[in-house]
Amino acid sequence: MLTKTKTRLFLGILIFLLAQFSFSQVRTVKDLDTNWKFQKINQEKAFEVNFDDSKWETVTVPHDWAIYGPFDKEIDKQEVAIVQNGERIPSEKTGRTGSLPHIGTAWYRKKFNITSEEKEKKVLLLFEGAMSEPEVFLNGEKVGEWAYGYSYFYFDVTAFITEGENTLAVKLSNKEFASRWYPGAGLYRKVRVIVKNKESIDQWGTFITTPFISTKEAQINIKTKITGENLTLVTTVFDTDGNQVSSNKTTTIFGEEFEQNLKVNNPKLWSPETPYLYTATTQLFFENQLKDEVSTRFGIRDINYDAQTGFSLNGEVRKFKGVCLHHDLGPLGTAVNKSALRRQLTILKDMGCNAIRSSHNMPSIEQLELCDEMGFMFLAESFDEWAIPKVANGYNRFFEDYAEKDIVNLVHATRNHPSIVMWSSGNEVPDQWGAEGVKRAKWLQELFHREDSTRPVTVGMDQVQATMESGFGALLDVPGLNYRLHLYEEAYEKFPQGFILGSETASTVSSRGIYKFPVEKASMKQYDDFQSSSYDLEYCSWSNVPDDDFVLQDDKPWVIGEFVWTGFDYLGEPTPYDEMWPSRSSYFGINDLAGLPKDRFYLYRSRWNTNDETLHILPHWNWKGREGEITPIFVYTSYDSAELFVNGKSMGVQTKNNETPQNRYRLMWMDVKYEPGTIKVVAFDKQGNKAAEKEIHTAGKPYEIVLNPDRKILKADGKDLSYVEVSVVDKNGISCPTSTNQLKFKVTGAGIYRAACNGDATSLEQFHLPTMKLFSGKLVVLVQATTKTGTIELDVTGEGLKGTSVKIQAKK
Ligand code: GAL
Repeated sequence: MLTKTKTRLFLGILIFLLAQFSFSQVRTVKDLDTNWKFQKINQEKAFEVNFDDSKWETVTVPHDWAIYGPFDKEIDKQEVAIVQNGERIPSEKTGRTGSLPHIGTAWYRKKFNITSEEKEKKVLLLFEGAMSEPEVFLNGEKVGEWAYGYSYFYFDVTAFITEGENTLAVKLSNKEFASRWYPGAGLYRKVRVIVKNKESIDQWGTFITTPFISTKEAQINIKTKITGENLTLVTTVFDTDGNQVSSNKTTTIFGEEFEQNLKVNNPKLWSPETPYLYTATTQLFFENQLKDEVSTRFGIRDINYDAQTGFSLNGEVRKFKGVCLHHDLGPLGTAVNKSALRRQLTILKDMGCNAIRSSHNMPSIEQLELCDEMGFMFLAESFDEWAIPKVANGYNRFFEDYAEKDIVNLVHATRNHPSIVMWSSGNEVPDQWGAEGVKRAKWLQELFHREDSTRPVTVGMDQVQATMESGFGALLDVPGLNYRLHLYEEAYEKFPQGFILGSETASTVSSRGIYKFPVEKASMKQYDDFQSSSYDLEYCSWSNVPDDDFVLQDDKPWVIGEFVWTGFDYLGEPTPYDEMWPSRSSYFGINDLAGLPKDRFYLYRSRWNTNDETLHILPHWNWKGREGEITPIFVYTSYDSAELFVNGKSMGVQTKNNETPQNRYRLMWMDVKYEPGTIKVVAFDKQGNKAAEKEIHTAGKPYEIVLNPDRKILKADGKDLSYVEVSVVDKNGISCPTSTNQLKFKVTGAGIYRAACNGDATSLEQFHLPTMKLFSGKLVVLVQATTKTGTIELDVTGEGLKGTSVKIQAKK
C-alpha cells in the first residue's frame, strides 16, 4: 500500500512528467527523409492522391537524382562563348554542368501521418532547397511554388492537411542552360513538417544580435515575431554546458514583435579559434500555459569594417583566409550530408583557412551549423545573376519576381549564425554595366540592410573599371574584387570605403599528382591528357597563381583578405578544358574532387596555419624515362630556408626572398636532374638551426593496397560517413604515386558502400559503382553507416595486388 506522502510524491512526479511531455509537444518538427517515391517523369497526374507510384524508386531525402550518371557528353553540350571568361567567338563546350543527367522533370511523393490533435494546429512545410522550380501539392491540391533551387522556403499548409495519411507530391523541373556549374537535381536538402500551436513563434521569427560587448558583459538583443494575442514571452540563455546565464520575461509587444535585452556576464566570445556558442530558449505563454518553445544557438561576437583598420572581429584586426565552395560534395553530388561537410571543414581547418564563401548561392543550414561549431567566418552569397543573363535560363528569369523574397528568406533563415559576417548580393553580375545595374545593387543592398542592419554587403566584381566609373563599386559596403590584382591599388584609391576584399582569388589550376615539364608559368595551358600541372604555375587568362595574391595580402593593410577559388574541386566548369571531352569537373580546387589535398594545399597551409609546421616536397620521385633531365623540386614550408639532398648530394640551400612572388613563398630548386632514389629536405629555423626534415623515395612496382579511414567509429544514423583513403605501396611500403590500378570494393556488416572518387577530372567512372581506377596512386571510398550498430568491413582488391580490408564500428 502506498502511504499518503508517497502517493502525493508519485502524483507530483506524474504531473511533472506530463508537463514535460506536453512541453515537448507544443511543437513537433519531423524530417521527411525516408520512404519517398521518386521518378524522373513528366507526368501531370502525379500530384493526385491515388496516383499509383508503387513502381517508382524508393529514395531517401536529401537526394540528388543526377549524381548516379552516367556521364554523357550530350547532356550539356552547347555552342557558346563564355563571356565572363573573355570569350567572343562561340565554340562547342562540354562538361560545363558536369555532364550528369540533371535536366528534365521529376516527381517526389511522400506519405506522412497527422494525428487528430495535430490536425487542430498550424502545419508548415519547410524546404531548405529544392532543385529547381518546385511545385508543391498536398492531398491533391497545389499549396505553392518557388523558383530558385537554392532558396529556403515554407508554406503554411494548415488548410490542406487531413487527419491520418497525407500525400505530399513535389514536381521539380530543371532547364538546360540554367547554370554555370553542376547544380544537382532534386530534393537535395531537408524537407520538414512543423506542427505548432496557432499561438506560436513565427517560422524564422527569432533574431538575436549582440549590440554591446565588453569583457564584463554583453547585451543580447532578441526580437521575436509571434502570432497570437495576450501572450507572455520568456527567454532563457544557456551557456554551452547548459547552465542558465540570463533570463527575461516580457508581455510588452510592439505589433507582432517582442523585443528583449538580456545581459550575459563575462561573455565568452565567438571566433574561429574559440567558437563558443550559447543557446536562447524562448517560451511563449498564454496565461501560464506554454504555447510554443524554440531554441536558437547563437554566438556573442562583434564585427567591424572601417577605413582605418579594415575588418576586425571582437576588436582584433584580421584578414579573411578564405575559400569559395560550390555546394556539391563530389561523389555524393549535391545531396547534403553533414558528415561530408564536416570532413571538408576539418581539412580546411588544418590548412589554416578561417572563412568560407558559399559561391554563388545560399549555403545549406548544415554547413552554417558546422561553421558556427568549428569556427569559420562565412560570406553568404545569394545570386550569380540578377536581371541580365549569364546563361540563357539562369536566375534572370526569376529576378524581378523573386529577388526580394529570396533575400528575405536567406536573411531570416540564417541570421542567427555567428559565423556569417557578410552577405553577398551577387557574383560577377553582368548588371555591373549600366545605370540599371547600379540601381539594382543599391536596391539589393538595402534589402539586406532592412532585414539585418548588423552585417555588410558585398558583390564579387570582375568589371572593376566599369564599377569604378559608374558608382556601382562605391555604393557597396564592402567592395569585392574578383581577380584583377592590377586594379587593387586604383580601386582602393577610387572607392570610398578604404579597404578592398579579394572576394574571389587565384583560380590556379592543377591535377593532383600530375607534373608537367618544362616547369613554367602559363595561362590557359592545355596538355594531351587534359590535366594541369601541380607545380602550381598554371592559371586562367583572367586569373593568377596564389603567390600573386599573397603579395597583396601581406603588403597592403587595406586588403582585408581573400576567398580562393576554390577549396575543393567541383562538378562542372572544367577550365582550361571547357572544350575537351571527357573533362567534366574543375581543376581549380586546392583539394581534388575526392577531397585529397593537391600540392597547393601545403602552399596555403605554410602561410595560413600559423600553429603547425608545414614541410612538403613536390613532385613525386618516380620519373622512369626522365633520368638526367631537369626535374625541378619545390618545397612548400612554413620555414624560411632549407637544404635539399638528392641521394645524399646537396643541391644547396634555398631561402625565401623577394626576387619574385614565387621566391617569396616557395623554395625552388630549378636545376635538379632526375635520378631515382631519395629526396631529402632539411629545413632551418630563423637562427639557422636544423628544425625539421622530410624524405620522399622512388617507389618500386605496386604490391599491396593500403587503407586509411579518416574515421573508425561512425554513428549508426544511416548517414554518417567514413572516407577511406586507398593507395598502393611497393614491397617496401613506399607509396606508388603514379599507379592507376583498377580496384574493387566490397562493404559488409553494419554499413554500405556509398561511393568512390579518385579526383581525376576526366574520369567517366560512376561514383556509386563499386569499382574505380586509382588516379596518381590514390582514391577515396565512402563507407556509410546504416541504422544498425556493429562492425562494418571494407574490402579492397585489385588484380595483381595484395588486397586488404579495414574494420569500422557503427555505434549508437
Ligand atoms: C569566376 C567566377 C566563378 C568561376 C571562376 C573560374 O569569374 O566567379 O564562378 O567561374 O571565375 O575561374
